Amino acid sequence: MKIFLDTANIPSIKTFVDMGVLDGITTNPTLIAKENREFTELVHDILKLVPGPVNLEVVSQDSEGMIREGHDLAGLGPNVVVKCPMTGEGLKAVRKLHKDGIKTNVTLIFSPNQALLAAKAGADYASPFIGRLDDAGHEGMKIIEETLRIYQNYGLGTQVLVASIRHPIHVVEAAKLGAHVATMPPEVLDKMVKHPLTDIGLKRFLDDWEKAGLRLPEGRASPMKPKPLIQRA
Ligand code: E4P
Repeated sequence: MKIFLDTANIPSIKTFVDMGVLDGITTNPTLIAKENREFTELVHDILKLVPGPVNLEVVSQDSEGMIREGHDLAGLGPNVVVKCPMTGEGLKAVRKLHKDGIKTNVTLIFSPNQALLAAKAGADYASPFIGRLDDAGHEGMKIIEETLRIYQNYGLGTQVLVASIRHPIHVVEAAKLGAHVATMPPEVLDKMVKHPLTDIGLKRFLDDWEKAGLRLPEGRASPMKPKPLIQRA
């Protein structure tokens, strides 16, 4: 399963790019607004860091506006994916952008029927928002299972991008179902890196090494204690 980071925050993106675990980025108008920066400059900085798909969302409501925006966004880099909302106008825009050779992602999907329509319109990705469904008292992951089954039944090539992920269990469940992509906030990816037993185990190894008075061979010795890979907040 591919892992995308759901953020426009450059330091967070860099952290996980450096670890080699990031396949792409999703953003939305809320996440872009949080960064408080000029939009095009921010996008250029993201594109410099991330060779994989970078999802940028249109803000027009009508298909003509979305198509215009989609072309502008796609012009920013070859790996840009244009996010359109799951509305009739959004589907019209996806159909046209697809014909124009521009990659698209239909966002704000809350039912398997919406996911089916996104695929029929030609979307490269369909994004069901599972966390928001959970919040509303539904079983968000069910829609992932149903969408994957529907796409498989009819050989639809749209990738299921599990969005609105709230915690690491969501990621495990998405991966077990065979979802193509999971996008998550940096806090969730950070939790996936960490395990208390890893920290305890590492401390014990290093304490034992030190107690025994062992030293690294000449030339490799570091006067510093090894830094933890992930800095604690
Ligand atoms: C995905 O593309 C969306 O940006 C995102 O997953 C929304 O998640 P939220 O429900 O946490 O805002």
